[in-house]
Amino acid sequence: MKSLVIYYSHYGNTSFAVYYLLRILEKMGTADIMRLEYAKGQRNPIMRLIYKIAPLLVELKPVTSNLKEYDTLCLGIPVIAARPSSAISKYISSCKNLEGKNIVCCYVYGFEANAKRCANRVRKILKRKSQSNIFEVFVPWNLAHNDKELDGIIGPALSGLMPKP
Ligand SMILES: Cc1cc2nc3c(=O)[nH]c(=O)nc-3n(C[C@H](O)[C@H](O)[C@H](O)COP(=O)(O)O)c2cc1C
Repeated sequence: MKSLVIYYSHYGNTSFAVYYLLRILEKMGTADIMRLEYAKGQRNPIMRLIYKIAPLLVELKPVTSNLKEYDTLCLGIPVIAARPSSAISKYISSCKNLEGKNIVCCYVYGFEANAKRCANRVRKILKRKSQSNIFEVFVPWNLAHNDKELDGIIGPALSGLMPKP
């Protein structure tokens, strides 16, 4: 299985969670990982607010968005204001060839209710783009640095992804 891990992380918690996921995905095949970066505007509070309202205006540095050669896309998604971070929203809108892929959405959050609201939004957007198999992982930010906790959260959530014996 070939996986692409795409994530955004401002404070670093999502990076911990996705690197843990990467290690699991590497046991199932090969995996590439890329961090989303803003091409401009990230340090400007007004632009950040505009991006929150209209994430399609975000300009990202170049990153693989064509999933043709991958079986699985894993998204590391910080939950901000009950929504995916703007960089992730923009990335999802640019994705091509998602049809039939496994999509692992890893939410790193502070408030569970907001993480679920965010997941509902992302699920709707992904379903509009393609019929894919969506796996959801919810990681409270304060557990993202703890491998033992991550094992308990991520292992069961990905059990459907494991190759059948
Ligand atoms: C400005 C801001 C807004 C946030 N809003 C939410 C929210 O609405 N719901 C939630 O569950 N967590 C919220 N959080 C917590 C983040 O999801 C958490 O800090 C997460 O670790 C951010 O990911 P990162 O560390 O990879 O940048 C917010 C954090 C910040 C800084």
